[in-house]
Amino acid sequence: MEGARTDILPPIHPALAPLGFLLGSWRGAGEGGFPTIKSFGYGEEIRLWHTGKPVMAYTQKTWKASSGEPMHAESGYWRPRPDGSLEVVIAQSTGLAEVQIGTYDTENKTVTLHSSLVGNASKVTAISRRFQVTGDDELSYTVEMATSGTNQQLMPHLRAVLKKV
Ligand code: HEM
Repeated sequence: MEGARTDILPPIHPALAPLGFLLGSWRGAGEGGFPTIKSFGYGEEIRLWHTGKPVMAYTQKTWKASSGEPMHAESGYWRPRPDGSLEVVIAQSTGLAEVQIGTYDTENKTVTLHSSLVGNASKVTAISRRFQVTGDDELSYTVEMATSGTNQQLMPHLRAVLKKV
């Protein structure tokens, strides 16, 4: 049996259509911080695509704003569930694994996620992620996390604004 064909782009699965506003390649810049660290600037590329299945594939990579040196990267799958919620699984380059559950709003092009599972983490106990698409070509997001160092309180770690490329 040959491998899957990559020369044809199948139609989007109906289950994914409400999340179609996220599809594409996005590039831009972000700022990171946390009560316990020095703040920093970064560049980022996010790719979200589909293969006709009811799931979106996701990859993200970041680099130091000052030098271009690679920083954090992660990848995973975004899966809308029959009950109208959204499940996202992410593997981070640090070894941390997360399962996010949340909601999406097709009209306002927003996604709100909160971790139902954070695995293999030394300090992190919870992660929240919010995404917003503005117009057709701007994706912004924020990430908050709770750690043993913040008494499990969610505090901002990342914010970024990316453009469709
Ligand atoms: C620090 C988690 C994404 C860059 C940290 C720390 C944690 C963490 C637990 C240590 C905080 C402390 O010591 O109190 C996470 C999680 C992420 C994430 C869960 C995703 C959900 C990113 C991304 C970048 C990044 C995308 C780069 C663009 C950094 C940097 C530090 C840091 C530079 C400071 C390191 C240091 O000063 O030693 N992160 N991070 N993180 N993170 Fe993240």
